[in-house]
Amino acid sequence: CGIVGYIGKRDSLDFLMSGLRRLEYRGYDSAGVALHDAAEVHKCRSVGRIDDLAAALEKQPGVSGTLGIGHTRWATHGPATEPNAHPHVGGDNLVTLVHNGVIENFQILKEDLIAKGYHFQSDTDSEVIAHLIAEGLSKSSPSETDPHAHYLSAVQRAVAKLRGTYGLAIIFKDEPNLLIAARFGSPLVIGVGRGEHFVASDASPLAGHTDRIVYLADHQIAMLTADSMTVTHRDQGRVRLDVQPLEVGEDQVSLEGYDHYMLKEIFEQPEALKNAIRGRLDEENATAIFGGLNLTPQQLRSVNRIILTGCGTSWHSALVGEYLLEEFARIPVEVEYASELRYRNPPLESDTIVFGITQSGETADTLAALREMKRKGHRTLALCNVVGSSIAQNADGGVYLHAGPEIGVASTKAYTSQCIVLALLTLYFGRLRHLSFEAGKQMIEEIKRVPAAVQEALSCDQQVREVAAKYQSATNFLYLGRQYNFPTALEGALKLKEISYIHAEGYPAAEMKHGPIALVDEQTPSVFIIPRGTVYDKVMSNMEEVHARGGPIIAITSHDDNRITEIAEDVIRIPEVPEFLQPIVSVVPLQLLSYHIALARGCDVDKPRNLAKSVTVE
Ligand code: G6P
Repeated sequence: CGIVGYIGKRDSLDFLMSGLRRLEYRGYDSAGVALHDAAEVHKCRSVGRIDDLAAALEKQPGVSGTLGIGHTRWATHGPATEPNAHPHVGGDNLVTLVHNGVIENFQILKEDLIAKGYHFQSDTDSEVIAHLIAEGLSKSSPSETDPHAHYLSAVQRAVAKLRGTYGLAIIFKDEPNLLIAARFGSPLVIGVGRGEHFVASDASPLAGHTDRIVYLADHQIAMLTADSMTVTHRDQGRVRLDVQPLEVGEDQVSLEGYDHYMLKEIFEQPEALKNAIRGRLDEENATAIFGGLNLTPQQLRSVNRIILTGCGTSWHSALVGEYLLEEFARIPVEVEYASELRYRNPPLESDTIVFGITQSGETADTLAALREMKRKGHRTLALCNVVGSSIAQNADGGVYLHAGPEIGVASTKAYTSQCIVLALLTLYFGRLRHLSFEAGKQMIEEIKRVPAAVQEALSCDQQVREVAAKYQSATNFLYLGRQYNFPTALEGALKLKEISYIHAEGYPAAEMKHGPIALVDEQTPSVFIIPRGTVYDKVMSNMEEVHARGGPIIAITSHDDNRITEIAEDVIRIPEVPEFLQPIVSVVPLQLLSYHIALARGCDVDKPRNLAKSVTVE
């Protein structure tokens, strides 16, 4: 879910609606706003997209005010209906709030509140919080010296009862000059303006409104008026504000002429890759530089195992990382689904470090897995894109991708940026161990050429569009590749499933004959990732096997081989790069293929059904 809030001198509706549009990727099954016009709180909610909310607002004029909150929802508790849409109210409309997160003990709290006479209007866990705050308010009276103190203590008392996660923005009917934001486990940032403050789930809604940002940490509560901001921490009391420059520009969060964010982000990859590499190459020592690992070279030298963990696309880049680190740094690597790792109890030696790979830095499973590993005494590092995100805050150190905001739900530029950062980490770890100066130097030269190679790969766009038109009605796809391009096959299949709703399987090309080959027929296209390299001939044999069974073939290759042209219906050319960098280049046509197929099928590319960009629930 995404939340926004505003307190200042302007009407808040504009910011709330534009902010919700920018956060819509976080969930889009219902949405709502509540605005305080100094006399009362006006609420408007709707099932569906932000556009549906805008239409509902047109039918309900007079929703205005210089204080307001808004929400776009990805349903957890209760279906996507208007009563379940946020904002929710508590205690006779005294409290209105929006919530992102999950309250695990809501049932017991709800029963208790019902017994006390509170009436519930929704099935959500969030409504419980509104009533709890109202209950807290009813038990305290305003102090003469600080008119806002009892609101703070009511919120503090309420959140102390919650088990689970929350990002909250709260307003009060009898106090039009107060907006409270509270956070535990769900992200929340505050934009600091002149005579105004903004609240949002991430920085993107703030772009163009302010250039100063405060990242709230867990257990912090911010008290905002138009002109003031104080932050208190559950255990530390009032904390000093850490106001940071906002690095997200408006151009980064708008479409800039593209039809979809996904397409824009695919085409931004050369730039994103340059940003990920920038400042990280140490040519003199033939190694990479990382400022934020918070581990000395001696500590890193003694690492004897690395766990890479993540979900979805990030799990695929972890697989690429495994091939890289084991080949060049000679460190044993395990790749674990974060959702499995968090409940598994693998025997781990003390010199094991854990990397959480995550675009958003908010994925609940990845966060929980890292916390569990940290509790066991392992160093945890984050490889993440969103500055100030929960995982970035919780890890012992890490690396930012610097890919810029990724808004399309299907990850593209974050994936390739993760892969290049993993290549840089491999170089760094390798050079601490067995990798020679010469080999390091060569890797640097090759890494530097990747952005241009990706740029070149993008020129297949038009051809891929034609291939997509041909296969848009297929119901099954196979994606096949080996070694470094086995993860590419998985990622290509996932991209297609996510945005075009076509069933697709990614497999190591040779493993295909142990099962999936039974799926091969004239209607089932197989996408082979077959760039020139050590396993080229092997993949070629696998391709022959599919061809012999009448399956149409789409080949992604850097090789000028007549045999490929003979047996593949379509050959998509990619530039040649060394094998360890191939995943970054060979995934590009696959991203475009899923994009064009989804488009041809009339799917909502940026907001595919049932998905959300950052899944902050288990
Ligand atoms: C969601 C998204 C996926 C993404 C995964 C992990 O499921 O739909 O596209 O790969 O989360 O996200 P993260 O932000 O942790 O990389």
